[in-house]
Amino acid sequence: MSLEEIDNRRRRFLTQATAVVGAVGAGLAATPFVVSMAPSAKAQASGAPVEVDISKIEPGQLIRVMWRGKPVWVLQRTPEALATLPRVREKLLDPESKDSEQPAYAANEVRSRKPEIFVAVGVCTHLGCSPTYRPDQTPADLGPDWLGGFFCPCHGSLFDLAGRVYKGVPAPKNLEIPPYRFLSDSLLFIGGADEEESA
Ligand code: FES
Repeated sequence: MSLEEIDNRRRRFLTQATAVVGAVGAGLAATPFVVSMAPSAKAQASGAPVEVDISKIEPGQLIRVMWRGKPVWVLQRTPEALATLPRVREKLLDPESKDSEQPAYAANEVRSRKPEIFVAVGVCTHLGCSPTYRPDQTPADLGPDWLGGFFCPCHGSLFDLAGRVYKGVPAPKNLEIPPYRFLSDSLLFIGGADEEESA
């Protein structure tokens, strides 16, 4: 083999080797990019927005989703449920919801963007238990004045169907309302950029 042939072979080998290293290098560079695009479980728990299909929720039905590691309720209130809100007003600590954690659009009697869809963080404002949904009226255990709402089994706090706390119970505030908006009639978006609106 002449010196020229050896030189040509070496050049071909180096060219191929460089191409392989280049491909591997490109692969390594691409991997972290793809991983960083996928939201991690930690990111989801710490505040990634949640989309909820609300098209299948029946009147009077409550569903639970997780957002920021907390249970969020989505309840479709019936006209009868909405009619109870003014009737319990005198028994409530903060009926206009002036002193609660909520977006501006929830600082009212119904505490929601659309009266029939109620969205709230399902965590008691006393010590953090999750209250029970009790839409039944005048049940034996909650008494003849009960018109439906949420009952916290830990220390007995009561909230109406807008998450407003009753007077004389351990919980000091109405239930928290998370930031949310409707992407369509059937799609709810909890959290996200909409949070600026919550002031
Ligand atoms: S945690 Fe709900 S009443 Fe205490």
